[in-house]
Amino acid sequence: MARPRSQFVCQNCGSVTGRWAGRCEACGEWNTLVEENAGSGIGAAPAARTARRGTPVKLVPLSGEIEEAPRVACGIGELDRVTGGGFVRGSAVLIGGDPGIGKSTLLTQAAAALARKGHRVVYVSGEEAVAQIRLRARRLDAVEPLVGLAAETSVENVVATLEAGPPPALVIIDSIQTMWTELADSAPGTVTQVRASAQALIRYAKKTGSSAVLVGHVTKEGQIAGPRVVEHMVDAVLYFEGEGGHHFRILRTVKNRFGPTDEIGVFEMSDAGLREVANPSELFLSDRNASAPGAAVFAAIEGTRPVLVEIQALVAPSALATPRRAVVGWDNARLSMVLAVLEARCGVRLGAHDVYLNVAGGYRIAEPAADMAVAAALVSSLAGRALSPDSVFFGEVSLSGAARPVAHAGQRLKEAEKLGFARARIPKGCLDGQKTGLAVTEFSDLAELVAAIAGGG
Ligand code: TYD
Ligand code: MG
Repeated sequence: MARPRSQFVCQNCGSVTGRWAGRCEACGEWNTLVEENAGSGIGAAPAARTARRGTPVKLVPLSGEIEEAPRVACGIGELDRVTGGGFVRGSAVLIGGDPGIGKSTLLTQAAAALARKGHRVVYVSGEEAVAQIRLRARRLDAVEPLVGLAAETSVENVVATLEAGPPPALVIIDSIQTMWTELADSAPGTVTQVRASAQALIRYAKKTGSSAVLVGHVTKEGQIAGPRVVEHMVDAVLYFEGEGGHHFRILRTVKNRFGPTDEIGVFEMSDAGLREVANPSELFLSDRNASAPGAAVFAAIEGTRPVLVEIQALVAPSALATPRRAVVGWDNARLSMVLAVLEARCGVRLGAHDVYLNVAGGYRIAEPAADMAVAAALVSSLAGRALSPDSVFFGEVSLSGAARPVAHAGQRLKEAEKLGFARARIPKGCLDGQKTGLAVTEFSDLAELVAAIAGGG
């Protein structure tokens, strides 16, 4: 009899080795290799080795007619925006996020919203008991008879339950890490189990036209544990994120086969669940202290929508041999670059100063367009001069110190105007003949902006 062969699967990246090691050679993570049985389940060798002759499939021209993907919009505007206009029938979506961020809350509300529009929804929880989920639903005012509820962890049972009735519009699996299938004989939560469970549920969705939403927990490194391997199996990956001390949450698209990937939805966690925030700028600017030096308002673009956020800088003389540079909400390397450009091209001496940079409200900026706003905040703090509170900034800075135009200038300015700002300081060439109600000062060089701020202009 053949000896049962075991293999070691990295729980972070899913790579398989025949030998245990302390560190995964593929992704470099420590202590992530777990022994799993290779004799059965997904990834095992086929039982019968006699190859079947394939049947030819019909090739179609690339230029053929296309149909718009049929969608089910739930009516929660911020969620529909992020999915690209609603859940696509027959697709699978992975929603990742820290424990306690509000994934179950969001999905309970989405389920109720869909049920109110007459769609059937099935909510399968592997984490909470039925009574707990009902209690939450009552609190959220989401008690809807069209939502079928089950506390179950066996994928075979879930699929059998789903197949017993008409296919629901939406199947919510909370969470994929708690599901296990008999097809794979490793422990629940391991990569093999997660992958096999997800495969079974995605197969059901594709076959019947239901949309499946899989919830995945995120590790402290910010990666969906185990479900990393699920990311390429699903059609869309959304992340639900937020800062511990703040009550707002951002739902972000990371991957979407049926829509844009740079959208965000903004919610506020209240005692009656998640509330949509239709105008995030007002939220991020709500507790501004405009008269203090070191604060600059940046007009950002997230996907298709403009968002205004405050960037706060503190530049203080350092007692350390190597001054501190700390940044929250922006890229560390990008800050170093702006500091270097300020030193080398604009004559701003920061070598003996600690620099702290914070994006207000726990928001995260990914755009290089924040360079000018960051530079303005830094210079304002160093000079001890507050920027005029009705100014917004945006623009990229190149290593030569030149101010480079960025996209969507019109939208950024329109949002600023809507929120009562009167001035904009932006790179030359952004406007491109567009009209705006703001008083626009254009700069071709970062040094000009620095001179304007330090000179009190
Ligand atoms: P939950 O949806 O259970 O998080 P996840 O499923 O991502 O683990 O959300 C739990 C948190 O949300 C918890 O800290 C309490 C808070 N919360 C509210 O503030 N208001 C509410 O109405 C609800 C239902 C939860
Ligand atoms: Mg939950």
